[in-house]
Amino acid sequence: MEIKKIAVLGAGQMGNGIAHVCAQAGYEVKMRDIDQKFIDNGLATIKKNLDRGVKKERMTQEEADTVLRRVQGVLDLKEAVKDADLVIEAIPEIVKLKLETWKEVDEAAPEHAILASNTSSISITQMAAVTKRPEKFIGMHFFNPVPVMGLVEIIKGQSTDDATVKVIEEVSHKVGKKTVLVNEAPGFAVNRLLVPALNEAVFAIQEGVATVEDMDLAIKLGLNWPMGPLTLLDFVGLDTALYISDYFVDEFKDSKYRAPALLRKMVRAGWLGRKSGKGFYDYSGEKPVPNKF
Ligand code: CAA
Repeated sequence: MEIKKIAVLGAGQMGNGIAHVCAQAGYEVKMRDIDQKFIDNGLATIKKNLDRGVKKERMTQEEADTVLRRVQGVLDLKEAVKDADLVIEAIPEIVKLKLETWKEVDEAAPEHAILASNTSSISITQMAAVTKRPEKFIGMHFFNPVPVMGLVEIIKGQSTDDATVKVIEEVSHKVGKKTVLVNEAPGFAVNRLLVPALNEAVFAIQEGVATVEDMDLAIKLGLNWPMGPLTLLDFVGLDTALYISDYFVDEFKDSKYRAPALLRKMVRAGWLGRKSGKGFYDYSGEKPVPNKF
């Protein structure tokens, strides 16, 4: 089966990145969101990242314009998926919202279309079960920033068939990513390791082991991470990390995954990281300034 047309649901941080790499690989993309302002923001981010490529002489202005023209912003869900060969969903991590959306998509998308979720934790099998094509349902987990990060985690649900896995491997390779195939389990492979590690950094801050700045420097230089764990938490979003931790505790029934109280308190205060302007660092000035805890 050849994929030509892709519908990306969600124009946020992940959705616009996915739309970008798909369009750059030559696919026709419809990027759907529920409000025109989200679509406009998503398209503006794609344009900004393409312009960066032009400035660095990785592509010509003409090539960048062609890529951007391949992404069509769409408000109506049915319109977005009606002729798609592949639907990639990157909407908020709210189980009820995902299940409702997948039911609608399943009704409106062509029978042959593959349905892929970019969820970072929610069960693929649970989402597949609300559709009439669970064998064509799969997890396709990209990493942020999508144009830069080299991995797609492919997640097989209980009913996902091998033909679907093969197509998604091919699409992932065509958009320039390497893949790992994992069986469904909370957090798959990457977040299973990452989220407890990030939580541990927050426990250390909570206990006064080190300052935010020193904890980040220690891990950046001591382990050669590109970003320290607290910078990375601000980048991922503290609400997302908390959501995944709580989901892990529910699913694994194991308190070793519990979120630190400090993380929960910060989320309750609206300190969500970069996207809210404040997290472990304050982003209101020219440079991020570490907060004291
Ligand atoms: N969008 C597109 N391109 C971007 C970008 C963005 N948001 N941010 C940076 N880049 C590009 C830059 O243009 C630059 O490109 P060139 O190398 O071609 O010049 C390159 O990325 C490196 O950027 P910088 O030199 O500005 O900065 P850096 O070296 O610190 O790299 C980074 C930035 C790539 C984000 C790096 O810090 C990094 O890899 N951080 C860790 C990111 C990470 O762990 N992501 C996974 C998060 S977890 C997740 O996504 C899963 C989940 O479910 C929670």
